[in-house]
Amino acid sequence: MTQYPIIMSQTGFTHKDNLTYPFEERGLQFGDGVYEVIRIYNGQYDLFDEHVNRLFQSAEAIKLELPFTNEELKTLLIELLEKNDMRADGTVYLQATRGSAPRNHLFPADAKTNVYAYINDLPRNEEHLEHGVSTITKPDVRWSYCYIKSLNLLPNVLAKQEARQQGCYEAIFHIDGEVTECTSSNVYLVHAGKIYTFPATKRILHGCVRRRVENYADELGIPFVEDGFTVEEITTADEMFLTSTTSEIIPITKVDQTIVADGKPGPITRKLQERFSAQIQTYRKKDPQFIQS
Ligand code: PDD
Repeated sequence: MTQYPIIMSQTGFTHKDNLTYPFEERGLQFGDGVYEVIRIYNGQYDLFDEHVNRLFQSAEAIKLELPFTNEELKTLLIELLEKNDMRADGTVYLQATRGSAPRNHLFPADAKTNVYAYINDLPRNEEHLEHGVSTITKPDVRWSYCYIKSLNLLPNVLAKQEARQQGCYEAIFHIDGEVTECTSSNVYLVHAGKIYTFPATKRILHGCVRRRVENYADELGIPFVEDGFTVEEITTADEMFLTSTTSEIIPITKVDQTIVADGKPGPITRKLQERFSAQIQTYRKKDPQFIQS
């Protein structure tokens, strides 16, 4: 994986080796910060406004002041692509924390928000998109404000690691049997021609790709039901899939020991994937750094 050398920080653009943090840093010691992952196709940001808007919403929810306006941040992120001459498929990771200060739970009086953003290459995972993935289920032991994209990801990290140890791609979280989302993606069940997924409450991250899927479903005349489903109901599923910025739309073919329907990606998942691929084609036809959200 290529990591590009120039990063953006609160003090400007610099080589990544120049970024040093004191060990008393709020993100490191308290997970006191928020982040975003934005996908890049052919050197252009996808769902750009949506991700930047969500960063500001997350920051506001934890009372964190960002050192730029929405428009200023977008300009900086575009510059980041240009300075790295980024023309490939990849991601930008951006995080903002409550700064560097002597360790104390209380907000520091004079600390400045620390920000950095850097880009990596990330090709599309054709294998997963085509054949689907296996998953496990785990109790959702996270806090109740999962709509905030905060740095506190320990339950997600532990559950995803367990999935990996069992040869699976993702862990599906549930609260008393009711499925919420996965460790780093949203999850859906298709039954009798309708798409079911957990409602966009505070218990899940309101995925940018989830919103896109909702729009595609509307266009295709497929009911998008924000009603959720249970682990038990997975045995009755016609199809299942998950979505995220890095995963796109991946079919789920197995959950724990249950094979989903006939174990092959289903027709509704395929239709949504086709729409997604068509969107990506629009980036392939344009010059890098021509931004479209
Ligand atoms: N994950 N749910 C959780 C818990 C997530 O962390 C993510 C994103 C999603 C999907 O959101 P979106 O469609 O906006 O990417 C749902 C990112 C990619 C990550 O942490 O790497």
